[in-house]
Amino acid sequence: MTMELLSGMQVLQSGGSNVVVIKLGGSALTDKSRGSGGVRAEVLENVASDLRYLRSRGFSVVLVTGGGYEAHKLAKEYGLGCKYVDSSRFSGAILTHIAAANLCEYVCKYLCERGIAASPLHPFSMTVLCGCNVEYFPIDVVEQLLVKGVVPVLHGDVCLDREYNFSILSGDDIVKYLCNVLLGVRCCIFLMDVPGILRDSGDEIYSTIYVSELDSVVHEVMSRGGTDKTTVVDVTGGIRKKLYVARDIARRGIPVYFASGFRKGVLRLIVDGLGTAGKDFTVVIPQ
Ligand SMILES: Nc1ncnc2c1ncn2[C@@H]1O[C@H](COP(=O)(O)OP(=O)(O)OP(=O)(O)O)[C@@H](O)[C@H]1O
Ligand SMILES: [Mg+2]
Repeated sequence: MTMELLSGMQVLQSGGSNVVVIKLGGSALTDKSRGSGGVRAEVLENVASDLRYLRSRGFSVVLVTGGGYEAHKLAKEYGLGCKYVDSSRFSGAILTHIAAANLCEYVCKYLCERGIAASPLHPFSMTVLCGCNVEYFPIDVVEQLLVKGVVPVLHGDVCLDREYNFSILSGDDIVKYLCNVLLGVRCCIFLMDVPGILRDSGDEIYSTIYVSELDSVVHEVMSRGGTDKTTVVDVTGGIRKKLYVARDIARRGIPVYFASGFRKGVLRLIVDGLGTAGKDFTVVIPQ
């Protein structure tokens, strides 16, 4: 480990738990059911405005964008996932990567043009998986960007896989990985197109979910076809997978919030400890 990296990690540590990891879900950024309308400017504006606030309060932010409509559609078309990809599908794998990378770059361009230095980091170019698990990922690149005050923006991507040639590393799994290896993560926030984890009725959301209750929440959500709405265009497990990721992160002592990308100011409410669980967001907490 170099001295430079050590000092970067110390800077992150000395700020206490000041890193906020935000998944900007493809469901918030794009219309995943139809793919029409392009990238949602309203959601990006909310995020830009809240990022400005978070940074003024001294928080370091890591963003992870989801695949969105286009990347999920291509991944499905080319049969990508956790299984062997033969050479006839290599071009499809790369096209899927390009779609996810384009969405990430669009977000970065939008933020940079509004004075928020945000840099795309493409997992495809920097990660090696083995059997769908991360084998190599240069976390020091993320740390060094944070130390310099730049927002690293990763995204769900197709990656090289030692066993399967290529496989998908979902944005949700990247969030989990970051929460495992980054120092000083204060909380993790999933922005979606719904205001939290929906209850039976679909009109209400769960308020606080303790880790110990998560399995039964997943059961409830799935027993009424929880992911039906998204399985068509989500190749990485939709809401079920997200809940399991939240469980693993919360077990490390990091609270996980689910909120809507349409809700203006919701990131501020969360980091300021304001807002009401069950109304403004659902929170998964350790216990
Ligand atoms: N009980 C539920 N609570 C919350 N969302 C649900 C529920 N059941 C189904 N969903 C759907 O799951 C979606 C969230 O999962 P999905 O993986 O599609 O979103 P995402 O992570 O934002 O997208 P991406 O994977 O492209 O980043 C929401 O759009 C919502 O419509
Ligand atoms: Mg998803």
